[in-house]
Amino acid sequence: MEKEKKNETGLMEKIVSLAKRRGFVFPGSEIYGGLANSYEYGPVGVELKKNIQDEWWRVFVRERSDMVGLDSSIILHPKVWEASGHVAGLVDAMVECKACHTRTRADHLIENHYEAKGAKISVEGKTEAELDAIINEQKIKCPNCGKFDWTPVRKFNLLFETHVGIVPEAQSKVYLRGETAQGIFVSFKNILDSTRVRLPFGVGQLGKSFRNEITKGNFIFRTLEFEQAEIEYFFDPEETDWKTLYEKWKGDMWKFVTENLGVAADSLRWREHGDEERSFYSKRTEDMEYKFPFGFKELWGLAYRTDYDLNQHMKFSGVDMQYTDPTSGKKFVPHVIEPAVGVNRLMAMVMLNAYTEEGERVYLKLPPRLAPYKAAVFPLLANKPALVDLASQIHSRLQKKFPVAWDDRGNIGKRYYAQDEIGTPFCITVDFDTLGDGDEEKKGTVTVRDRDTGTQERVHIDKLEEFLHGKIYY
Ligand code: GAP
Repeated sequence: MEKEKKNETGLMEKIVSLAKRRGFVFPGSEIYGGLANSYEYGPVGVELKKNIQDEWWRVFVRERSDMVGLDSSIILHPKVWEASGHVAGLVDAMVECKACHTRTRADHLIENHYEAKGAKISVEGKTEAELDAIINEQKIKCPNCGKFDWTPVRKFNLLFETHVGIVPEAQSKVYLRGETAQGIFVSFKNILDSTRVRLPFGVGQLGKSFRNEITKGNFIFRTLEFEQAEIEYFFDPEETDWKTLYEKWKGDMWKFVTENLGVAADSLRWREHGDEERSFYSKRTEDMEYKFPFGFKELWGLAYRTDYDLNQHMKFSGVDMQYTDPTSGKKFVPHVIEPAVGVNRLMAMVMLNAYTEEGERVYLKLPPRLAPYKAAVFPLLANKPALVDLASQIHSRLQKKFPVAWDDRGNIGKRYYAQDEIGTPFCITVDFDTLGDGDEEKKGTVTVRDRDTGTQERVHIDKLEEFLHGKIYY
């Protein structure tokens, strides 16, 4: 373990470069000069992201008998966002540089200014006038052009607007969802009526959310569109102690990040929201934070949202959203605890955590379950048909069970290098011994090289599937 080294210097730049070079994440709309805060997930990136989503779904939905899943619409009735408070409340304070027209969030501008001076400040809850005063007092310059010439701070809404139908009129205005959570509240009654769920139970949903984010940078940490993985866990506050339930969820979230995603516990911490930061309807909110190269930042939020959302939707829709206890007949609006995470942030963390340098060697030490390819198959030489034919047969056979890469370019060293950088846990080489041209005992066996140790062992072709299965889905 000693020889493994995580070189923190320039780690973010290294990840961004590797992500592009190897096909994890590309800058958005690059051929048109790019679009800030948007990215494309390349051939291996889409696999890694999907594997993280699948792992979340498996652990929090499929393998729990107190959870069900949902896939609601991105475009919901506009009243949903009035009821939820997003139309009035999902706002950020912004300033614009009059010289170069860069727009930036006032809180980020101030916090970054203090951070550069080695100080920490939170401006959560401050009014526009108070933010203006700090910017002017500190003479904070534009991070883009260096001038000090800002417009006054003003609030803007993060919800993306669009129109249903061909004529954009006020009545046809809708929003792209700002969180997946509201879809769960809107479908709550249908879930109750169509399934046999009984409190306490949760509804999990994975899907895209959209926010008009203006702060640039930090790779896929904050983007215009992102995948959320959210749970609304409903319970009767008279039967279930919310504090105990809340602690239980903290434990489940921590376990998922450290065990399923393999992230080092010393790069994680909990941070509780203060009164000025916490939403007015939440009784307690805590963020699990990860130590990104740009500081400890929110990864996964946990909030006790009480019965606020269901009550709001009852009020705005006029539909009764109460739960009737099947034993006592008691009718009430359930309370809810919400663990909400962004999959893209999880992916950034997984890549940063996995990045390992060992001398000249660079590899992503991804948990095998998350790796885009579980193995790669090579013929030792690309110009020997017997080696290529057999390797190709092995590749096709394994491909029916696992995502498996193929490479016959360059020398073996280069192929290892390329697979290491995308985190492929095992490289399988068909050589002359496999064909029976060397040591008789090795006939029918291939070399399997382990990504993390670099060691090689010979495994019989017939045992390969079992071997990989045992190592990947242990
Ligand atoms: N339903 C509650 C909710 O949406 P949030 O803290 O605004 O709460 C939850 O978002 C999670 O979604 C965050 O912890 C973060 O992981 C992710 N997230 C939020 N905004 C994001 C953005 N612009 N880009 C990427 N991920 C984002």
